[in-house]
Formats: sequence, C-alpha cells, structure tokens
Amino acid sequence: MKALVTGANGFIGSYLAECLVREGWDVRCLVRRTSNLRWIQSLPTERVYGEVTQPDSLRAAVDGVQVVFHLAGLTKARRRQDYFAVNAEGTAHLLRACAESGDSLERFVLVSSQAAAGPSDGPTPRKEEDPPRPLTTYGLSKLRAEQIAREYADRLPITIVRPSAVYGPRDRDLLVLYRYAVRGWKPLLGRAPRLISLVHVSDLVRGIVRAATSERAVGQTYFIANPRPTEWGEFADAVARAVGRRARALVLPTWALYPAAWVSELAAWFAGRPATLNREKIREIRERYWVCSVDKAREELGFEAEVSIEDGVRETILWCLEQGWL
Ligand SMILES: NC(=O)c1ccc[n+]([C@@H]2O[C@H](COP(=O)([O-])OP(=O)(O)OC[C@H]3O[C@@H](n4cnc5c(N)ncnc54)[C@H](OP(=O)(O)O)[C@@H]3O)[C@@H](O)[C@H]2O)c1
Repeated sequence: MKALVTGANGFIGSYLAECLVREGWDVRCLVRRTSNLRWIQSLPTERVYGEVTQPDSLRAAVDGVQVVFHLAGLTKARRRQDYFAVNAEGTAHLLRACAESGDSLERFVLVSSQAAAGPSDGPTPRKEEDPPRPLTTYGLSKLRAEQIAREYADRLPITIVRPSAVYGPRDRDLLVLYRYAVRGWKPLLGRAPRLISLVHVSDLVRGIVRAATSERAVGQTYFIANPRPTEWGEFADAVARAVGRRARALVLPTWALYPAAWVSELAAWFAGRPATLNREKIREIRERYWVCSVDKAREELGFEAEVSIEDGVRETILWCLEQGWL
C-alpha cells in the first residue's frame, strides 16, 4: 500500500511514518522546504515538498497513493486566521487534490483532535456523537476541518480520528511540566482533581493505522486515547518516579496563569513565534474534565492501548534526559 503522510516530520507524523515503514507500507512524506527533518532523516521514505496552504503543491503529493494520512496542522499559532488557513483551508485544499486525482484513493484519514469536541461534562467520557463544543480557536479550526472532510464523504472514503492529548518522546509541549516534576514539584491548579484522557504516541499511531485499514471505519469518527483517564497529579507523580523522586504539590490559583500567559505571549511576540502558554490555552487548562470514550474504537477497530501511563512516562522522561532536554 502506498501512503502519503502530511506533517510527517512532526511529533506524531514521524512516529506514524516509522510505524508504516515497519509494517511494509510504501511511504511518501509531505514536508516543507523549511521543515526540520531530524526524526525522519534515516527513514526509507519518499519525500515531496508541499504546503497545505498552496493547492498547486499538493497534486504531485497525492498522485498514485491509496491512503492519505493528514496530520499537517498548527497546534499553536500567532494569529487566529493562521489556524483556519492551515487546519481548515489546508484540509480543504488536500481533499480537493485527492478528489481530482483519480480513483486510486482508498482512504483519507483526517487527524483531528479532542479539542474539536471540547471538554467532557464531568468525569463521564465524551462520545463521538456528542454535540461538539470547542473552547479555543484551535479547536474551532479542527472542527471546521472535520466539517469540510464530511462534505467530501460522497466522493471520498473519509475517516476522522480525534486523538486525546498525546505524550511521548519528541514532544516538547509537556516539557514545562516535566521540568517541574523531575525537580520534585507537581504544579496543580487548585486542589480539586482534574481528569484527562492521554495517549502514548505509539498507541495513537497504531490506532490511526487501524482506522485507515478497517472497512468499517469509512465515514466514521473515532476518539483514540488510553481508556483509563489520568488524574493530572498522578501524571506528575509518574514523571517524578521516573527519576526516583517524590513530587510535592505546588498548588496554584487559576488567576496565576494569566500573568504567566501574558509574559509567555509577549516573549513569543518578540521572538516571532507562537506562545506555548497563551490566554486561550488557559481556557482549556481551567476545565477539570477532558475525558473521551474509546469504546467505539475498541469495538469497531479492535483498538487497545498497550502502553500504561507509568511505562509511557518513564520511557519519555528517560528519552528527554538522554537528549539533554531536561
Ligand atoms: N500533539 C497533540 O497532543 C495532538 C493532540 C490531538 C491532535 N493533534 C493533531 O495531530 C497533528 C500533528 O500534531 P503534532 O503534535 O505532531 O504537531 P507538530 O509536531 O507541530 O507537527 C505539525 C506538522 O504539520 C506541519 N505543517 C504545519 N503547517 C504546515 C503547512 N502549511 N503545510 C504543510 N505542513 C505543515 C509541520 O511542518 P513544519 O515542521 O515544517 O512546521 C509539522 O510537520 C495535528 O494536526 C494536530 O492538530 C495533536
């Protein structure tokens, strides 16, 4: 099978490309001239250059492939319109290129996000069919991408995957938490428990491949996560244990995040890059429950998470230490 992976040099995309190569797929990676290729440099894959915002660059990328895994996207952006230009319009351009490329396409997998669905109402896991209520521009742009993909469902075999928060080696978004926890601190927002669905990147990519290869998944949407939601403090405890420490609670009031976000946004503005912590991100962090159900993925795709949080966190922390990231 020949596959196109967009966003192939990114955190999740590089794991997906590796997984596909291991399973004997013929893999074409869509990357940009400016992309850092360090994670896929040594992978035996074909590379094509393209930008999802430039429709003309996508024709050659989709030519002759059976499966498109669309992961290219912005999880952080400097301007609201950038999220929509890349995540929503970029998806539209790629779908149009696929629709115009002939009949070889057997599946288009859109990697969306739990952020498109929004948080859960309490600890009861959110299901795929629950009405979406994204909290951020990022979530809205991913939801718009899903809507655009569904508009193509009469012409193309579409499957949508919504990963929960993803962790694992190569990810930098959780580094701030890791840095506190390896020094023996777990930053908590208030004392009330906060439950989130998490998924280790290698479990996620297995779920994505199952979604792409299951006949039943055509026209369907699936959450992919570890079925056991994690309490935020437990996650930090697991990080501290990975380096043989015990983490002490550092309880912060929610308001304390706002000055931190302003500083982070200001520093990012001067540096000309998007801020990791911003005022929108606080909207997500404030929610106590980000829990999604993986029953549908389990029943219809046979998806099972294999990496426990304890093992996945230990592997991640040891890897970050090896890289000198911590
Ligand atoms: N990480 C998570 O927790 C998480 C959770 C749920 C869903 N997701 C989704 O999973 C996907 C991958 O996320 P990630 O965490 O792997 O992010 P990432 O490491 O930032 O990777 C994003 C990828 O998209 C590419 N990209 C960005 N703009 C592009 C454009 N205009 N044209 C072509 N490629 C472009 C990037 O290329 P460059 O390197 O050249 O910028 C990079 O390869 C995203 O769609 C995200 O919404 C992520």
